Amino acid sequence: MSKLTILTVLGFLFVSASLFQSCDKDDDSSTPTEFIADNTTFAGFDTWHLHTTKEGVDPANGGLHDNNDSTVVRKIYIKDDASRVNGAYPVGTLIVKHAYSPDFAFNQITGMVKRGNGFNPTTGDWEWFMLMPDGAIATDANGMAMRGGAAMMGGACNSCHNGASAKDFVFSK
Ligand code: HEC
Repeated sequence: MSKLTILTVLGFLFVSASLFQSCDKDDDSSTPTEFIADNTTFAGFDTWHLHTTKEGVDPANGGLHDNNDSTVVRKIYIKDDASRVNGAYPVGTLIVKHAYSPDFAFNQITGMVKRGNGFNPTTGDWEWFMLMPDGAIATDANGMAMRGGAAMMGGACNSCHNGASAKDFVFSK
């Protein structure tokens, strides 16, 4: 073999090796089986991808989010603009809804996190959250973090979001 051929073959091997390596890297970063949010998870949610801004009454949503008030604005933020893959959002998907009246007398921030690992099996293993304006997880009068699955808010989050079961329980996307 000439020197040139040897160099070409070596070059080819090098390129294929790097290609294989990058495939391996992708495999390593595959989605985790469970994502457990903490107080830092939602920090800066208002810098995430703003998926949509809704205004006006939404008949599907008269209860919790105060969408029966025509002045309330609802912004839906989706971290990294996550999308469903084969019908389900990946574990670790983060979505925040900020609903507020023009004078902020009503100012509600709710979150949903694809927690996975059988956390909330009737409703896609989503975990529900009530959040503070800085993204910290809100606490109730007893100091308990306002987060949970099927039992959250007496089951209200689960039962209403069942209306979006065809979209993995996410209404807006
Ligand atoms: C009365 C029905 C109802 C209840 C109860 C409810 N939601 Fe929603 N939610 C909706 C609707 C409808 C939307 C779609 C956005 C819109 O129209 O403003 C929505 C949107 C959201 C979104 C944005 C993602 C999406 O599905 O579009 C989050 C996050 C969210 N809700 C969290 C919660 C949490 C947390 C609870 C419980 C504490 C809860 N929701 C309870 C009806 C409800």
